[in-house]
Amino acid sequence: MTARTIADADDYWDRYYSGEFIAGLGTETVLAALAEIPPVGTWIDLGAGSESLLWSIALQTRRLVAVDLDPRRLTLLRAFAATRRPRPAYQTALALRGRTAAEFAERCDRLAAVVVADCLTGRSLPLRPGSVDLVTQFGLLGLTTSPEQFLSGWHHAHQLLATGGWTAGANWTTTGPDTNRVHLSRQLYTAAFARSRITVHHLERIPITGDPDFNAVWIYLGRKP
Ligand SMILES: C[S@@+](CC[C@H](N)C(=O)[O-])C[C@H]1O[C@@H](n2cnc3c(N)ncnc32)[C@H](O)[C@@H]1O
Repeated sequence: MTARTIADADDYWDRYYSGEFIAGLGTETVLAALAEIPPVGTWIDLGAGSESLLWSIALQTRRLVAVDLDPRRLTLLRAFAATRRPRPAYQTALALRGRTAAEFAERCDRLAAVVVADCLTGRSLPLRPGSVDLVTQFGLLGLTTSPEQFLSGWHHAHQLLATGGWTAGANWTTTGPDTNRVHLSRQLYTAAFARSRITVHHLERIPITGDPDFNAVWIYLGRKP
């Protein structure tokens, strides 16, 4: 079991990136960090929800596989990709990264598959170990409820990574007292990187102000040597 996501599929879709871009959620900082990653082949986004295409704006990848436990979120993602048109918040993200609507349409076309699977157990993940050039998660590992579950989820996710492959992600920390989410710390991330033998390129906790439910985001980038 993990902690609950902040909103169900449709509420999440409406609340975060449907309208105008909300500054101060950490999105702009995550996009800037992702832009450090060189072009890659296969990208897998774990706990993708409906929003992989937001993060795709900063990336250059040939093929995206989006995986989530919730089929409704993946249906939203696939339908959105089929429109090939950015929503308002995405238009701001495109401007922030200096990309055009045509480049967004290309990214939509690169959504190769959406797969319903439990990303934290590693069972039925759709790609072979060592076959992926970029593994990402945005908000998935932050839903784990203990350091052990975080570390084992991280381990399963990064078994997919090819030699020379990249990992990147972000996890938000909540303000509420009634959370059973794992306590995120530099020590926890460092242990996760070390166990998977991944070199840390960027690891940072950024305070955020734009969301009453969250007060910071941990952002990381790493590479498997
Ligand atoms: C906070 S949301 C983030 C969604 C999206 N990555 C984003 O950037 O907006 C967390 C996502 O993790 C998914 N999730 C939760 N537990 C999961 C699991 N065990 N395996 C796969 N996905 C899971 C949820 O359905 C949800 O889409």
